[in-house]
Amino acid sequence: MKVCMIGTGYVGLVSGTCFAEIGHNVTCVDNDEKKIEILKNGKIPIYEPGLLDMVRKNVSENRLKFTTSISEGVRESLFIFIAVGTPPKENGEPDLSSVEKVASEIGEAMEDYKIVVEKSTVPVQTGKWIKTIVERFNRKKVEFDVASNPEFLREGSAIQDFLKPDRVVLGVESEKAKELLLELYKPIDAPKIITDLASAELIKHASNSFLSMKISFINALSIICEYSGADILKVAEGIGLDKRIGRDFLNAGVGFGGFCFPKDLKAFIGISQKLGYDFRLLKEVERINEEQMKRVVKKLEDSLWNLRDKRIGILGLSFKPNTDDMRFAPSITIINELKKEGAIVKAYDPVAMERAKEIMPDIVYCKDAYEVAENADGIILVTEWDEFKNLDLKKLKEKMRQPVFLDGRNIFDPQEMKKIGFIYSGIGR
Ligand code: UGA
Repeated sequence: MKVCMIGTGYVGLVSGTCFAEIGHNVTCVDNDEKKIEILKNGKIPIYEPGLLDMVRKNVSENRLKFTTSISEGVRESLFIFIAVGTPPKENGEPDLSSVEKVASEIGEAMEDYKIVVEKSTVPVQTGKWIKTIVERFNRKKVEFDVASNPEFLREGSAIQDFLKPDRVVLGVESEKAKELLLELYKPIDAPKIITDLASAELIKHASNSFLSMKISFINALSIICEYSGADILKVAEGIGLDKRIGRDFLNAGVGFGGFCFPKDLKAFIGISQKLGYDFRLLKEVERINEEQMKRVVKKLEDSLWNLRDKRIGILGLSFKPNTDDMRFAPSITIINELKKEGAIVKAYDPVAMERAKEIMPDIVYCKDAYEVAENADGIILVTEWDEFKNLDLKKLKEKMRQPVFLDGRNIFDPQEMKKIGFIYSGIGR
């Protein structure tokens, strides 16, 4: 089947490439000429494990191509996916101007029946607007449907999440759109949930909010563990084995980040408000998360007394492992707090340093974890990259001026760390 994917960010590029991988013919469109140039040259503008090989394979097998022309993509395809960015505005509401622009261009370019599918994360009722705009610019008055197909891809494992998802959600308004979308997704072996547009849109925001809530719950619980001498890992295991709760997303840490949870949470709180409901539960989820990032610095202060002029090493900068994404990364808040206290910050990340330099040009970047440890008064592990799990910890400790180690992701065994000689603390244990 013929698919046009508008927007080649994380969502669009992964989804487009995976649609090609399962046998469809895909045209990926982006108005960023530089991005399209990179893609045409056989490279990719983002870091996502496995994606580069999959792009190259599908391009060489003629199922995947790239263009800057929406009209070209629209004319050739039956499914038109909108996967453009919806970044937060100053007030936290998503900026939907790109969605609107794309919808009008789709309307103008349509010459025969199309299914316009919203894939960008958008507030409930956006589908209605897309329909209005496409209709307004649909000068040839061709038939079309609007559908909502939210994505649940996690950065770092996005390909797997696309090809083997827990579910596929299809919000549709007609039998025809339903049948065609089911055909498109036929090669994907997963439950298909058919809903109306608004429910599909809500499922996306509700899923991300619920997962954020789980993380804030476990982070709040980690504080109680610290006060009471309990171990958060044991507590998480104990509650997580209850199938109704589940162990996933119960890892206490430095707080959640990335371009999805913080932004979607804020957007969802705003939409609820607009619809007439004050979603205070989610406001608290957000507050706990912001506090958690700052608590990390307070904890370090508890071990080091004063932070002024102390050399603090940061291990891991990206918002989670296996991505170079720095958007809303907890490391940024933590480093800002450290700087406010007068600390000298040095950092290392296996892949995110180039991106980090654009946001934080004034910290010291190191070539590896050992250089970070050199003369450091304290280390905070912020991102649980595998590389850090395999460190020579004795060597690391020897390099430090004071062996204070704050394990923000609980990847090390406290007893082992203390045996090596670290003044070690984790989160909630
Ligand atoms: C998230 C969702 O998991 C996806 O289902 C969704 O499609 C995506 O947002 C999106 O809306 O596009 P992602 O942001 O890539 O995916 O990352 P996650 O793996 O969900 O992690 C988000 C943050 O939560 C990270 O900072 C991570 O470190 C943190 N986290 C996660 C914890 O602190 N504890 C946990 O137990 C799990």
